Amino acid sequence: MNPVLELQRVSKCFSHRGKPPVKAVQEVSACIYPGEILGLVGQSGCGKSTLARLAACLLTPTSGSILLNGREVTGAKGKALREVHRQVQMVFQHPTASFDPRRTLGDGIGESLRNLGYTKRERERRVEELLERCGLGAEYARRYPHQVSGGECQRAALARALASKPRLILLDEPTSALDVWTQKQILELLAQLQGQEGLSYLLISHNLALMERVCHRVLVMDQSQVVEEGSPAQVLGKPASPAAQRLADAAIPWDLSDPVPPCLP
Ligand SMILES: Nc1ncnc2c1ncn2[C@@H]1O[C@H](COP(=O)(O)OP(=O)(O)OP(=O)(O)O)[C@@H](O)[C@H]1O
Ligand SMILES: [Mg+2]
Repeated sequence: MNPVLELQRVSKCFSHRGKPPVKAVQEVSACIYPGEILGLVGQSGCGKSTLARLAACLLTPTSGSILLNGREVTGAKGKALREVHRQVQMVFQHPTASFDPRRTLGDGIGESLRNLGYTKRERERRVEELLERCGLGAEYARRYPHQVSGGECQRAALARALASKPRLILLDEPTSALDVWTQKQILELLAQLQGQEGLSYLLISHNLALMERVCHRVLVMDQSQVVEEGSPAQVLGKPASPAAQRLADAAIPWDLSDPVPPCLP
């Protein structure tokens, strides 16, 4: 099977005048396959979000190549970049901040449809359908981001991500700002959407129990590099790298089927 997205020895170095350069991602190679949920774990600051932004072509790598459906898209511009953004969507940790506070959720969700040439009527209908698929009533289209809960706003962010019929969604800690009940609901929704659409996900999370439960494969990053890759059971149960061992040691076990996480000792 050919990968949806392939990163070939991708590096990103941030240089700001008067400051030492930051090597945020170094020589990372990775593939995401159709229908796959690929987990990305690692300590804070190791480069996960930067890697996701590179994969979404929101950042241009300092070196290396990014291939989407086998075609090089590194440094894509104009129409080619718009096509990458149509196929690769991102969902962030803080859904409220990802919507324009002056515009309704419906406008936010429908924006990419406008670029795809949908008429106003078609957009409205599609926005309603997307909201309903994400477990929200059509009336949410008229609400503003501050008029909904964090969980509802994350559902709207998923509806927005789905609007352009992407092949891949990059989820950067999509549930970490939510309570455990809502986390579970959003995860169930993500699983359901993935089954329906044959989507691929790159899922970044600090919650290893979640990774173990939902991911097909997990990458471990440490100090801007990928240091381990394997099945969740292998990486999180029998970690080979010191970085994965540290994460496994620090993990708090809780079962998602259990609504209440176990108390800390
Ligand atoms: N635009 C930027 N300019 C300069 N440095 C940056 C920029 N974006 C990220 N960095 C640096 O790159 C490194 C990796 O950051 P990144 O946000 O990718 O980490 P992360 O693994 O997502 O961390 P967290 O788990 O806390 O979200 C950090 O040292 C960060 O300070
Ligand atoms: Mg991050």
